[in-house]
Amino acid sequence: MLRPLISTNLAVTADGKISSVTPRPTGWTSREDHARLLELRADADAILVGRGTLDADRMTLTVPNRSAQPLRCIVSRSGRIDPAHPIFAKAGGDIHLLVTGENPPSLTSPQDSRITVHHQTLRGFLHTLASEFQVRRLHCEGGGQLIRALAELDAIDEFHLTLAGHTLFGGQQAATATGIPAEFLPRSLDFEIRHFDPRPELGECFLSYARRR
Ligand SMILES: NC(=O)c1ccc[n+]([C@@H]2O[C@H](COP(=O)([O-])OP(=O)(O)OC[C@H]3O[C@@H](n4cnc5c(N)ncnc54)[C@H](OP(=O)(O)O)[C@@H]3O)[C@@H](O)[C@H]2O)c1
Repeated sequence: MLRPLISTNLAVTADGKISSVTPRPTGWTSREDHARLLELRADADAILVGRGTLDADRMTLTVPNRSAQPLRCIVSRSGRIDPAHPIFAKAGGDIHLLVTGENPPSLTSPQDSRITVHHQTLRGFLHTLASEFQVRRLHCEGGGQLIRALAELDAIDEFHLTLAGHTLFGGQQAATATGIPAEFLPRSLDFEIRHFDPRPELGECFLSYARRR
């Protein structure tokens, strides 16, 4: 299937969690980690997030100092997007909302005409981004549920990780890189390490892996 090259980026605690109780502690990783997050966005033609992450992190999905901004893609089953979310007020790439659920999207006041709503599967959406919107590189910033869905499609080519071993969140219901622990993936996916950057002064390690196919 035609699809973009897909990368993901997450920070995980020593106990493998990506989120804590709501509200999530802000800035729980270093400034250097935040700079890396922006660097990883810089090459992307489009950025992809789940609706949960968009809401929790109040993301606007832009890249500083770049004239051609990446498309901003949001994935939701329900289509319930808050029209007052800051993403709609911040100038940036066109917004593409994928709604996979049965019901038509209830985005009642798209204040911005650059919002396109897609009603299809995640797999179909990846194809649409590549074939109709010339997206060659798609960068996903979570959360765990969405990354799990990409892993089920075996559609992750690069996996970037900040190991933030300075923190433990705990929590039975705390998401991991593949969401709240549930069933095994249909099969394990192998990756090979491409970048290893331990930062003892930060208590963090920046890692990048590529899918071994
Ligand atoms: N540490 C990190 O690097 C990092 C990165 C990202 C997020 N987070 C944290 O992770 C938490 C969110 O985790 P999460 O696993 O709940 O996040 P998520 O995947 O962003 O959000 C879940 C919601 O996104 C939509 N969604 C996700 N996958 C979908 C799919 N395959 N098809 C259709 N809709 C899909 C659904 O939205 P609807 O409910 O609208 O249907 C779902 O309820 C937040 O606390 C956030 O701060 C941490």
